[in-house]
Amino acid sequence: MPDLSPETINRLVEAATSVRDNAHAPYSGFKVGAAILDANGRLHEGCNVENASYGLSVCAERHAVAAAVSAGGDGIVALAVVTDTNPPASPCGACRQVLVEFGDFAVILADLAGERVVTSVAELLPDAFTPESLVKSQE
Ligand code: THU
Repeated sequence: MPDLSPETINRLVEAATSVRDNAHAPYSGFKVGAAILDANGRLHEGCNVENASYGLSVCAERHAVAAAVSAGGDGIVALAVVTDTNPPASPCGACRQVLVEFGDFAVILADLAGERVVTSVAELLPDAFTPESLVKSQE
């Protein structure tokens, strides 16, 4: 996986920080912003959107993935997730599974104070169930 330039990391974190302001999080008060960089250099953002029926709340990462797919985003190169927590929060298990559907790519975890942790989908979800797992069926 190619290293991300500091400029690319900044661009992703700024986009995720900005969209985080739009989060609808009246129940948890925990705002999350996510930004995806696709293979064509385009950004796709998402924030968490909570619901009075709590279980229907959707995480920022999954909204960013949906935005990228809906826009015809051609392959995910990197994702940034921004929260106001230190250390920066890491994607939940459900989001990790949604991310691995789109391969292994860099994941930047950032807070509002400037801390950044660079990891990857494979590090976040080792031994994942992937699309390749389906075609390895022995039946
Ligand atoms: N949340 C995310 O948006 N992404 C995650 O990976 C973890 C949690 C949201 C869901 C909910 O709106 C709030 O954070 C508290 O769990």
